[in-house]
Amino acid sequence: MSTGTGTGTGTGTAAGPAPRPRTVVALADVTKEYPGPVAALRGVDLTVEEGELLGIVGPSGSGKSTLLHIIGTLDRPTAGSVHIAGHDVAALSDRRLSALRAQHVGFVFQAFHLVPGVSARDNVAEGLLYSGLSRSVRRRKAADALARVGLADRLDHKPHQLSGGQKQRVAIARAVVGEPALLLADEPTGALDSASGAAVMELLRDLNREGATIAVITHDTEIAARLPREVRIRDGQVVADVTHGTASTTGAAL
Ligand SMILES: Nc1ncnc2c1ncn2[C@@H]1O[C@H](COP(=O)(O)OP(=O)(O)O)[C@@H](O)[C@H]1O
Ligand SMILES: [Mg+2]
Repeated sequence: MSTGTGTGTGTGTAAGPAPRPRTVVALADVTKEYPGPVAALRGVDLTVEEGELLGIVGPSGSGKSTLLHIIGTLDRPTAGSVHIAGHDVAALSDRRLSALRAQHVGFVFQAFHLVPGVSARDNVAEGLLYSGLSRSVRRRKAADALARVGLADRLDHKPHQLSGGQKQRVAIARAVVGEPALLLADEPTGALDSASGAAVMELLRDLNREGATIAVITHDTEIAARLPREVRIRDGQVVADVTHGTASTTGAAL
């Protein structure tokens, strides 16, 4: 008896995983108030589609880290709705939200946050701790991710044996090893010299070209201006959402 569709060549499209939703982040009229009260975010609308690379830029105190915490589901808004990878954050318990975060969001911070005394490879493998994969598979994937960020020859180095730029590459490998729907980087070049910072930004561009969706939080207007999309935030509000053309290299329009 025929099953009708045939078994094909084993690519598994018929029974494969459901495709990811195209919209990775959808914030609607999000406000966040801290006790005081401080209105850290005031009516933010923001949509990020799969495959985007955007900068979220604003001066100190404008609400960037608050926005990162809400997009990354580390915190909930006071009002407004947040959808991440198609999930309504308000509908999830804290436990379900942690699982969503582990599966769909990778984080990179200014200060790297690597585990001291642990090899680069095991630091990266930690990014798969909740994946259900065996330790040996996690370590193999970690080695692959380190190769992807140019550190194939540093697997056994510990954080104190790496430069700042290399540490941030390890942190990026850890953030992307699970292939999250979204990579969130909060001032990823803030602790680096300008050459290492430029290399880290180039790596993020490479990962984006390979398909990663990336939001970079920065106070550095030069970094933001070189990204394909720049969302400017001031006093808790989005004041501009600019798409930069890629054709001009003259700088005449800047
Ligand atoms: N946990 C908190 N409690 C009270 N106020 C806070 C808290 N976190 C941030 N704020 C205030 O919210 C505003 C936005 O802060 P933040 O998101 O950290 O800005 P940025 O990252 O752009 O510097 C600031 O006025 C800050 O003082
Ligand atoms: Mg901040």
